[in-house]
Amino acid sequence: MLAVETSCDETSASVVKNGREVLSNIISSQIDTHRAFGGVVPEVASRKHVEVITLIMEEALEKAGIKPDALSAVAVTQGPGLVGALLVGVVAAKSFAFALDKPLIATHHIAGHIYANRLVRELRYPCVALVVSGGHTELVLMEREGHFRLIGRTRDDAVGEAYDKVARAIGFPYPGGPFVDKAALESPAAADLPRVWLEPDSYDFSFSGLKSAVLNLVNRSKMKGETPDYGAIARGFQESVIEVLVEKAIRAVRSTSAQQLLLCGGVAANKGLRAALTGRCEREGVELIIPPLAYCTDNAAMIGAAAYLKWQSGEYADLSLKAEPGLSL
Ligand code: KG4
Ligand code: ZN
Repeated sequence: MLAVETSCDETSASVVKNGREVLSNIISSQIDTHRAFGGVVPEVASRKHVEVITLIMEEALEKAGIKPDALSAVAVTQGPGLVGALLVGVVAAKSFAFALDKPLIATHHIAGHIYANRLVRELRYPCVALVVSGGHTELVLMEREGHFRLIGRTRDDAVGEAYDKVARAIGFPYPGGPFVDKAALESPAAADLPRVWLEPDSYDFSFSGLKSAVLNLVNRSKMKGETPDYGAIARGFQESVIEVLVEKAIRAVRSTSAQQLLLCGGVAANKGLRAALTGRCEREGVELIIPPLAYCTDNAAMIGAAAYLKWQSGEYADLSLKAEPGLSL
């Protein structure tokens, strides 16, 4: 299957065999272009996708050593994401499927992030996925294959978004998540920052209050003519985020008798989060799957993994398929 992903600022195409074996996974990142603006500029993202999408699809086939005729299907991210960016992938995939007379499969971006874990290990149900990315922070219960139940979500900022905003306040380049991660792990001190738990039984998250607390700390120091202790701020912020994410994820696993916990999305690259979750899961006897970094950030292999199930059940899209920026899981 040839899979295509263009929901944000990565143009990616991948050839995946049986939803599991990645024969190629080509990713062209636009980060260098967007960095100058301090974030992703949607219109620029769409244009960049248009420039490279056919080349990336060709490269994916070439690297996999697959002739287009040998494909079983073409899969694409339908949403959620930036509408103009999604549109480029959807139109490219539709055109390719039409020209080759192959089935077209529409995939949900978050289903892709979750099924990235299936590229690593067989999933056992029920399982719980903690999805942490630049646009999403969700706890998803999967009671069976292809079935998603949203049990918690952020009420404001996504965790990656909060990381990027805090990084900006500290003066790190975009996207700042990895810089905050590094600074946090290197700092001997931690700023005292709040943990936001919401209602006692809630699986929802909120990061905007924490982000504001960080901005207040930075501004207060600056007003006093002092240089803020950025390392301590990064560490305090990261510890607050991780404590809440780990605690709610483990509680979700316990209350649903989940067999596995899956970590997904770009923030799954966070070293502090990976270590904290790994340690806690080991202590509590919870099976944890974390995909390799290349399958955590946006990529098309994960879309091929998710689309395979729809291919098996013959759930095909037709050429009227439209990009859906607000598609729900
Ligand atoms: O999944 P992803 O590639 O794109 C979306 O679908 O949003 O996630 C990108 C996000 C960015 O906000 C980036 O700062 C964050 O993941 N990120 C990190 C780390 N690496 C990437 N956040 C914290 N620590 C990291 N090491
Ligand atoms: Zn993503």
